[in-house]
Amino acid sequence: MAAVDRFYLLYREISRSCSFYIEALAIVGAWYTVRKCVSLAFDTYSMLRLHLIPKLGGEIDLVKRYGKWAVVTGSTDGIGKAYAEELAKRGVNIILISRNKEKLESVSRSISETYKVETDFIVADFSKGREPYPAIREALKDREIGILVNNVGMFYPYPDYFTNLSEDVLWDMININIVSANMMMHIVLPRMVEKMRGAIVNVSSASCCQPTPMLTIYGASKVSWGVVFNGMH
Ligand SMILES: NC(=O)c1ccc[n+]([C@@H]2O[C@H](COP(=O)([O-])OP(=O)(O)OC[C@H]3O[C@@H](n4cnc5c(N)ncnc54)[C@H](OP(=O)(O)O)[C@@H]3O)[C@@H](O)[C@H]2O)c1
Repeated sequence: MAAVDRFYLLYREISRSCSFYIEALAIVGAWYTVRKCVSLAFDTYSMLRLHLIPKLGGEIDLVKRYGKWAVVTGSTDGIGKAYAEELAKRGVNIILISRNKEKLESVSRSISETYKVETDFIVADFSKGREPYPAIREALKDREIGILVNNVGMFYPYPDYFTNLSEDVLWDMININIVSANMMMHIVLPRMVEKMRGAIVNVSSASCCQPTPMLTIYGASKVSWGVVFNGMH
């Protein structure tokens, strides 16, 4: 057989097996594209559902839908303070819970003067295990709590290996990020269920949804959830 024939034979065999790989890759590509399109469609739908559709029907009256008072934990700074202000702007009375009494007094006064709502505060340190909850339960017992925002959270002082973390950091992270949300729900949820209305927001983090090396406990403690009750939804 001439050399040229052998080359042609080889070329034909290679292109036949390549066409099989190309077809296989085309199937993988099509599957990937369909998956991306479906997830984009879902994301677009949830963005419209959250940010556009509610606005079309006018602003929801939070007091009517959920109740007069909202409790926000960790509410003298950052996201918690912003949540408290946003709810107050919509006419909801606010109960702030944090550690520092001076900051609580000042934020409480500023919210009530700016938004003309009632405010109150509870001094509590969520790192103290079971200690703060009897006082919180007592302070909330006669209030119609429609909204609970479990915002308080603790981050690492700096990223580190699990084996380097002190016992104190572990307990604080568990008490502040996990126990507080569960205990606060245990305090307010029975009345919400009884009244068949209420909303609970658990402030999570993107760290919950992917591996977070050197932030393992924070990531695990933020695998949280959001619950909305409204007429037993
Ligand atoms: N910041 C971010 O980039 C980010 C990103 C994703 C998720 N998050 C989550 O969002 C939430 C708020 O974060 P942030 O950054 O806004 O917080 P922040 O600015 O550090 O605010 C902390 C607030 O919590 C209070 N607080 C802290 N430790 C407390 C304790 N042991 N007991 C009672 N109150 C305590 C502080 O009050 P005192 O003044 O009394 O200490 C303050 O009002 C957290 O759950 C966090 O995990 C934050």
